[in-house]
Amino acid sequence: MDATHARPVSERPEGGGGEPFAAVVQRRLSRRGLLRAGLVLSAAAAAGPALGLTARAVAAQEGLGAAPRFTPIRPDTADRIVAPDGYQVQVLLSWGDPLFPSVPPFDLARQTAALQERRFGFNCDFLAFLPLWRGNPNEGLLWVNHEYTDGAMMFPAYDASNPTREQVDIELAAHGASVVHLRRAPDGSWQYDRTSPFNRRLTATTPMRLSGPAAGDPLLQTAADPTGTQVLGMLNNCAGGVTPWGTVLTCEENFHQYFAYNHRLPASDPRRARHARYGVPAEASERKWERFYERFDVSQHPNEPFRFGWVVEVDPYDPTFTPVKRTALGRFKHEAATTVLARDGRAVVYSGDDERFEYVYKFVSQAPFDRRNRAANLRLLDAGTLYVARFKADGTGEWLPLVHGQGPLTPAHGFASQADVLIRAREAADAMGATRMDRPEDIEVHPRSGKVYMVMTSNPQRGAAGQPGPDPANPRPANRFGHILEVTEDGDDPAATTFRWELFLLCGDPADPSTYFAGFPKDQVSAIANPDNLVFDRQGNLWIATDGQPSSLRVNDGVFAVATAGRERGQVKQFLSAVPGAEVASLAFDPNDQTLFVSIQHPGEGGSLAAPTSTWPGPVARPSVIAVTRRGGGPIGG
Ligand code: FEO
Ligand code: CA
Ligand code: CA
Repeated sequence: MDATHARPVSERPEGGGGEPFAAVVQRRLSRRGLLRAGLVLSAAAAAGPALGLTARAVAAQEGLGAAPRFTPIRPDTADRIVAPDGYQVQVLLSWGDPLFPSVPPFDLARQTAALQERRFGFNCDFLAFLPLWRGNPNEGLLWVNHEYTDGAMMFPAYDASNPTREQVDIELAAHGASVVHLRRAPDGSWQYDRTSPFNRRLTATTPMRLSGPAAGDPLLQTAADPTGTQVLGMLNNCAGGVTPWGTVLTCEENFHQYFAYNHRLPASDPRRARHARYGVPAEASERKWERFYERFDVSQHPNEPFRFGWVVEVDPYDPTFTPVKRTALGRFKHEAATTVLARDGRAVVYSGDDERFEYVYKFVSQAPFDRRNRAANLRLLDAGTLYVARFKADGTGEWLPLVHGQGPLTPAHGFASQADVLIRAREAADAMGATRMDRPEDIEVHPRSGKVYMVMTSNPQRGAAGQPGPDPANPRPANRFGHILEVTEDGDDPAATTFRWELFLLCGDPADPSTYFAGFPKDQVSAIANPDNLVFDRQGNLWIATDGQPSSLRVNDGVFAVATAGRERGQVKQFLSAVPGAEVASLAFDPNDQTLFVSIQHPGEGGSLAAPTSTWPGPVARPSVIAVTRRGGGPIGG
């Protein structure tokens, strides 16, 4: 979601001020100096430069590949996609494209909800390329989240104060996700097959299941679902991930905005405070869906918001699969769900809660992954332990378990059960004393080093009156540009309960003295702000999509690549520039890194169809997935 959208900050007074930025960073970086001298850590990537190893030797020691190679582009503000010399851009899928046979071509003037359910949804976000046949990188399924809708950019005669039922129904149908069958043509372009039986649309009304410890809990029961196990639709699906067993995890993020009238609940109803902690509006919602669907009116259906804010698991290879909301992973404004395997085979899922001063979490499954039993793997995310992160000033950290009966998570402190802890994960994390972060967005694990990269996109409120001040892991007051942390789990085991951490990037204009690019010379890096989503290429380079540069750096959002090891570690290079109003919401490589699929979300946002700030890709602005390839073929950045 765009950084300019209102993101209510919970009102918990805490002392501002804190340690000055310079002192905090100084301490972090001088510790890094110790590491580089080899006093603490043996990792070659950290020790290498100080020991005079060549980048290639470091790469060989760590098993890492080459740094990204392309001529960086300049920041741009025009209504066009810019890619480096030698690269080409194809618009692959746009809002409204027909995904099934007999659906007519998109027509802005002839929209219906029934047709929208069979068309590509609005505001494409998380992307995953899922191969169909082993050894064939040229055919697969593309998973695409559709995070949210914007009536002003969808309907020529939209009146935000009076949306029609038909418009609301179209918007419900334009939420969710798409599964689309892709093939690469001999000329290298990608095409989608609208006749494929794999194609699927999930929407805000698709029947889904709730599973895990909170399923069936009284807080999840409603008039429409007295069992507390069935729910209609998923909302605000932003980022996500792919599991080792080939399912997609798609994450509900800013679900609060769909609900209304929390303050019509009596003040004595404890659910009112529970909803307030997650930002459910006190009065009418901006969307006004509650006028047509009473389940969005909290005063009539007080438990409905508890059924959103979950990670949803879907088998993209089975078009009949009923999506499952996995309550064991906790309820918050999930950004991403990145799954890796622990040393003993248990599944570990990292997830951030994308709001100012919220937390970073990870879930560790009880049972291990079984590569011969997919059915068992499909139950892995129903039992395990959810943890929340505490970052300490000495560069270490702890994963604090959110387990009912442990520490303050007891009936005496207001937590009735494990279901209660999971449904109110934010409050449980508050009670545990977790570290309040600068809007945790994506988290990715380096494919070879195992280091965990955690994006904090920005937090202009850091250090403001009545708000927490800077801390070592969120070191800048009024953090407008964001930063990326590099976490090493102890024992290099994703299931570890302790870790070490470093600052990897402090983003912004490199001329700004508060920026830091992993120590790389700042006169040789691209300006970058508001990192949001991450993906690694097969060489171990980090590719970063941004959301917020139009307001922070006054240029369009873009895509950036940076080496994480070797001599070029920290050399951020701009690869792509998007269009006005758009964020770059997600990145995915094909299996050979020959295509970078890119989600261009909300082009022209802030304008309207009548007064557009973008008309990309034409004739009107439409959220679209593009495919970026090299002219003549070859790996991206290779
Ligand atoms: Fe929808 Fe956290 O971005
Ligand atoms: Ca995002
Ligand atoms: Ca990612």
